[in-house]
Amino acid sequence: MVKRLGETIIMPLADKVSVSDIIKKKNDRTKISVITCYDYPTALLAEKAGIDILLVGDSGGMVSLGYEKTIPVTMREMLMMARAVSRGSSYSFLVGDMPFMSFNVSKEQAIKNAGKFVKEAGMDAVKIEGGSKFQDTIRAITDAGIPVMGHIGLTPQTAPLWSGYKMQGTTSASGRELILDAKALSNAGAFSVVLEMVTDQVAELISKNIDIPTIGIGSGPSCDGQVLVINDILGLYDKFLPRFAKRYANLGDEILNALRTYRDEVVGGKFPSKPHTSKMDSREFRRLTLLLKKEALFAN
Ligand code: KIV
Repeated sequence: MVKRLGETIIMPLADKVSVSDIIKKKNDRTKISVITCYDYPTALLAEKAGIDILLVGDSGGMVSLGYEKTIPVTMREMLMMARAVSRGSSYSFLVGDMPFMSFNVSKEQAIKNAGKFVKEAGMDAVKIEGGSKFQDTIRAITDAGIPVMGHIGLTPQTAPLWSGYKMQGTTSASGRELILDAKALSNAGAFSVVLEMVTDQVAELISKNIDIPTIGIGSGPSCDGQVLVINDILGLYDKFLPRFAKRYANLGDEILNALRTYRDEVVGGKFPSKPHTSKMDSREFRRLTLLLKKEALFAN
């Protein structure tokens, strides 16, 4: 529908993506597109590209805030990034990532912090890392009215404390554990689950045997959707590129070139030039010089 507001014609975007749209995509066998997002300008672009879900991941602590791991990221930092993303978004479904120790202490703590993502930062859902141990927490948050995305397989908040960043579900026993975890999260009311670095066959088994969509990252093509870290796909983070990530642009090089040219033009006096400069009206300027002479403010 086209609305008229004075002389302005507003073409509304498609309706905002909802939990039921996301679940319907699984039933319709339509893949779900997810990207991480940490700021306002990127949210505007991701929306324009029609991405279904923007995940304000705690990976932002690494790629935007410069931490070595996701462990130190705080609720305050997450909420600031989440608020910026929600200001740039009206179409995509927004998920705020609960940082380490923001949900691990008690169900009350988890509900309170999940509530902050929704009430103070405009998120539509939260994500929680961890398997069946967190099913009561997930149930408590969903009972409080907040949709939860689960996250199993490699869980970066605790991986560096235990076994490191390794592929998950490589043995029959660990594959079975992952399948039980996925079922537990689905039964606890999660509306979707991220599978991170899970072997292709286990990801396929999970995707085919639970009702909620699986969102894969490094878990093969059978997942119901895919997520990647935006800095990886844009070539904005060159410390490390996971094997499973695909680079779709090399913005790091473009930005570097632009900054070098800018610096050279400033140093060389080439910038700013006429188009970037505003002049006072010449009569007004004559008046100013007379005034200055009269008041002897400047020698020249
Ligand atoms: O924080 C994050 O970006 C994530 C995704 C990798 C799923 O949790």
